[in-house]
Amino acid sequence: MLFVSGNHEDHEWLSSLHQEAATEVVPVDPLGAYRHVACGSVVEVAGQRVAFLGMIEAPGKMDLDENAYSRLMAMEPGAVDILVTHDGPYGMSRDRHGNTQGSRKLTRLIESLQPRLHLSGHYHHPNGPRSHGPTTSYALAQLVQPKITRWDPDPINPAQQVAPGSIGLLDTETDDFEYIQDTWLADIKGDHLDLADLLSTTT
Ligand SMILES: [Fe+2]
Repeated sequence: MLFVSGNHEDHEWLSSLHQEAATEVVPVDPLGAYRHVACGSVVEVAGQRVAFLGMIEAPGKMDLDENAYSRLMAMEPGAVDILVTHDGPYGMSRDRHGNTQGSRKLTRLIESLQPRLHLSGHYHHPNGPRSHGPTTSYALAQLVQPKITRWDPDPINPAQQVAPGSIGLLDTETDDFEYIQDTWLADIKGDHLDLADLLSTTT
């Protein structure tokens, strides 16, 4: 599983992994199942050229990596098939105070790079399809909503179930993309992970 930085990761630790390994993709767990992709990288996945840009457009330590952003902005239109980001395109939704959500810089990147598909996260709800020229853009829901939040008086996900719309399937032959909304998703739940046991039972 490849992933980009969101806005709450330990960015210094992730960057140290990349420096030690001197690669754009590094495993972050003992089994090598989860691999972080450095911002601004282009990686081939299932025959698709996939560009990755994590973080969000916000002043401070969560802000988009300027070098990575510039690198992708300098690429030719159509140079990648898919763009994966954490932040979403500007205007995709409004927050609880009515403020417009999304990143103007990401919208400019989508319109410059013109991938066939753009995928994002961050805003916790599914959103799309949206068209930006030749690009179709989708935002995914939060994979597992927290048990409680500071805004909701009642527990919102006490069983820690996977959220509908948090996973999508892309058919790389037809370019069809669909959100997984199936009820079986709700059967995948739980917050107990015994990593030592997992390691001892995995060859
Ligand atoms: Fe986020």
